[in-house]
Amino acid sequence: MKRLLLTLALACPPALAQTTTLPPGFTAPAGYGDRIYPALGDAGLDVTHYDLSLSATPGVDSVAGRAVLSILARRDLSQINLDFAGPGVLGVKVDGRAARHAHVGDKLLILPPGVLAAGTAFTVTVAYSGTPALHIDPADDLRLGWITQAGGSYVLSEPDGAHTFFPCNDVPADGASYSLHLDVPAGFTAIASGVQTHSQMRAGRVYTEFEQAAPIPSYALTVHIGRFERVTPPDAAGGIQIRNAFPLGLPAEVRATFDQTPAMLGVLAGWFGPYPYPVYGVAVTEDPQILALETATLSTFPARQETPATALHELAHQWFGDSLRLGDWSEVWLNEGFATYAELLWAQSQGQDTAPLLARWYARLARAPARGLVATQARQLFDANSYYRGALALHALRLKVGDALFRQILSTYVARFSGQSVRTADLLGVVGQFGGPAALEAIGPWLTGPEIPALPTTGTF
Ligand code: TRP
Ligand code: ZN
Repeated sequence: MKRLLLTLALACPPALAQTTTLPPGFTAPAGYGDRIYPALGDAGLDVTHYDLSLSATPGVDSVAGRAVLSILARRDLSQINLDFAGPGVLGVKVDGRAARHAHVGDKLLILPPGVLAAGTAFTVTVAYSGTPALHIDPADDLRLGWITQAGGSYVLSEPDGAHTFFPCNDVPADGASYSLHLDVPAGFTAIASGVQTHSQMRAGRVYTEFEQAAPIPSYALTVHIGRFERVTPPDAAGGIQIRNAFPLGLPAEVRATFDQTPAMLGVLAGWFGPYPYPVYGVAVTEDPQILALETATLSTFPARQETPATALHELAHQWFGDSLRLGDWSEVWLNEGFATYAELLWAQSQGQDTAPLLARWYARLARAPARGLVATQARQLFDANSYYRGALALHALRLKVGDALFRQILSTYVARFSGQSVRTADLLGVVGQFGGPAALEAIGPWLTGPEIPALPTTGTF
């Protein structure tokens, strides 16, 4: 999580280069309009559900898939523009009828048989097979998307890796539910975001199905394929089923990092309100180098010793990032600031002195180039401001309003926007409602910047 590896020169993801020639009848796509990634997505689409069938063999860098997207037209559509990089497209249908398409750059452009009027519900089916794109996020030098290693494959997509292995409207603002049908050779295990609903062996392959019923952003979907031990502790977390997947031979100390999940669920639910999904757990990859990511219902971790604070951080993202999803990447502090602040809430619940943690955050923030909380460039998304300035903004608010109102603000914000996209203004609406002008004044200078306000030391807790 917080190893800030930034630095490569960055760029916006390539829009279709102006020089790209499109086949006759197609027009250049406009993108959803995200402030950081304007070329991603399509503002005309509201994808409500993805039904994904994926077939893979561990160690082989290839996926055969079929994606059925249930879509609502947000305006009259004469062309459907999906993000998709990598596997070759075998065929496309709209409402079950073959449709013309062009796979150009990172976009799959589709011509429906006729104009789809605003408000129409329709399906797009895409069959594909091949190697997922190698996608390195230029902003932080992380490999994203469907990643194949010797022993298996896993998915790690934030911010825009999802379209390396399935066609999608790859912006967090457009969340969707998922049904996954995974098939792998016998002897391997496939696990994924959501509740496992089915598993069956047939002709030397294992077919497993998962249902992610609550909408999530595309980058939060994960799939892990490999040889795992699945560990399901007895139901100890208020009705939330915990299931972890550890690679065979993972050292006991690494597993032990996740022993406190039930207690963490309890502490966070006490501040945020109920955990948003029926299941939670972690999947540990065989790779010791990756960063932990808050993949929905099944956070992804590297095969190395992590701190309980990191385990807690990814759990907190299930509320902030996965359930309440970003309306725009520029406001990723709404994910990272909250998940970071949750680390303090946990430390406090364990009777730890939180002053050193606050001082550390402040020092890290002071060392970074200061900015207000709304990012303007991709390389700022996961910087010290999103994490620490964001967390300290919440701390300043808490000190101003006190614990009871702070809890009410957090739980109201969650209850009001769970399963939806959020903007900073949505949070401020709740802050103003419960805390009035004084609360807005306390958080305001942290939001706008760039000067770093003094670390609040006095208050009601
Ligand atoms: N959201 C992650 C965290 O703070 C950090 C992150 C951003 C990340 N992009 C990523 C991790 C890509 C792994 C891969 O918890
Ligand atoms: Zn985070």
